[in-house]
Amino acid sequence: MSRRRPWVVGVSGASGTPYAASVLRALLHAGEAVDLVISRSSRLTLLDETGIGFRDAHWREDLRRWLARGADGTPDAFDVPVDAADVRHWAAGDLAAGPSSGSYAVKGMLIVPASTACVAGVALGLSKDLLQRAASVTLKERRPLVVAVRETPLNGQTLRHLVTLDEAGAVVLPASPAFYAGATHIQDLVDFVAGRVLDAAGVPHKLYRRWEGELGGDRGPD
Ligand SMILES: Cc1cc2nc3c(=O)[nH]c(=O)nc-3n(C[C@H](O)[C@H](O)[C@H](O)COP(=O)(O)O)c2cc1C
Repeated sequence: MSRRRPWVVGVSGASGTPYAASVLRALLHAGEAVDLVISRSSRLTLLDETGIGFRDAHWREDLRRWLARGADGTPDAFDVPVDAADVRHWAAGDLAAGPSSGSYAVKGMLIVPASTACVAGVALGLSKDLLQRAASVTLKERRPLVVAVRETPLNGQTLRHLVTLDEAGAVVLPASPAFYAGATHIQDLVDFVAGRVLDAAGVPHKLYRRWEGELGGDRGPD
């Protein structure tokens, strides 16, 4: 039986590895297949933000630990059946990997978080590693590409690169949490951004409470 089309999830070296963990958990809970590409630099941010060293040779074990971890640092906050899930991992330097080619069937790609270096590389079509190549392929194949950029403030150069990506068909989605959804924990803020990424990709989820309009005072229903 052939595999369902996966989502390619690219994790680059911007701060925000909890965003990636939340997106990955939600994709797996939604029964989506995932192809994971973790840039070399993101291993540093992952180590800094979680204490987890990501090893290609032991990727499933490291992914399990990462996805179990809550944004507040609780080691076993989530029960994620990584072993039973349809996840493939491709090494960042493997330019012969499936997502390097447009003929490799995928639903699209989510870059969470996206560094400004990654944004530049994709906007300029550098394809310096598998993550950037897979993103360029996603654009040329006219598949959905969501770019959750994380940097502040933004210089003009990055802004121009983001406009290039928008014009090429990507959804540029700054990793900027909102506070109207009733957040009380860090995880709520993380899940809001992750939920907006999945909204842009059209993947159902229950990561945050949606705005339904003001229903206060005389305007409320009887
Ligand atoms: C702890 C840490 C945090 C970083 N945070 C960001 C960030 O939020 N945004 C960003 O654009 N780059 C950030 N960087 C820099 C990127 O990691 C660097 O530009 C790297 O070259 C990105 O490579 P990649 O896009 O191939 O992953 C950070 C680096 C470190 C070590």
